[in-house]
Amino acid sequence: GLSNKKTKTIALVIPVINNPFFPELASSIEHIAHKYGYKIFLCNSDDSKEKLADYIDTLTSNYIDGVIINSHVVERVDIDKLIQNKVPIVTIDRKHFEHEFTHVSVKNKDGGGIAANHLLEIGCKRIGHIKGPENERNATERYWGYRTTVHKLDWYDQSYVVAGDFSVEGGYKAMKELLIKHPTIDGVFAANDLSAIGAMKAAYEWNIKIPDDLAIIGFDGIAMTKYMVPSITTIQQPLQKMGKIAFEELMNKINNPDAKIKHHELDVSLMLQESTLR
Ligand code: RIB
Repeated sequence: GLSNKKTKTIALVIPVINNPFFPELASSIEHIAHKYGYKIFLCNSDDSKEKLADYIDTLTSNYIDGVIINSHVVERVDIDKLIQNKVPIVTIDRKHFEHEFTHVSVKNKDGGGIAANHLLEIGCKRIGHIKGPENERNATERYWGYRTTVHKLDWYDQSYVVAGDFSVEGGYKAMKELLIKHPTIDGVFAANDLSAIGAMKAAYEWNIKIPDDLAIIGFDGIAMTKYMVPSITTIQQPLQKMGKIAFEELMNKINNPDAKIKHHELDVSLMLQESTLR
């Protein structure tokens, strides 16, 4: 805030509270914050510019020492309000204005490549992709990782890539679309775990056996993937590490406003579970 008085409270802006990825990431930030004696003010934007603007108005008062923003829809005027009020900012995961701030995210393109390669390695011959939201860059990078891996294969064409929106419902619909277009499809890379869960339900309704007839891989590594039947192979994002780095970078920025901007692109890893176990 404007005064030098510390409140030992930081804000965390998240895009969607009902996708477990975000509370899991928030939890990792909250744990490290607690160790430093900090409290978190949680702002759920629901991907709405208006809701976000409303929260940011609150954040420009003197109540917080800094903010970690996870959003790809935040507006220039809102970022400027924070800057004018000297609110230290770090961005995490979703990308927007990230070049102006220290940012923490993962190697999404590598992750998409690892996912597609894994499906090829277990013998898949026709691999589809369920995309994330159109204007979301993590999703686009994952798609590029997939595309770079499969685009030269003889079966490949653009109709193996279908729209999704990171939701279970979106994944369910996308999988039906893929099954109608390509009844012989035997592998799917979903841009996140919720889409993979929705896709699995669609396959179940079509009496398709996973992983024997269709192998499915997600992205994120949310805890519930272990408890789905079958458990879902996924590309694990290092949530603990992401939260810790983002929080410590924000502390650094709070204590040293001239701190250099850094871009952390963390490694992802294959979390092998039953949905691709052949
Ligand atoms: O599941 C939600 C997705 O949106 C995650 O993959 C995360 O990286 C975010 O951008």
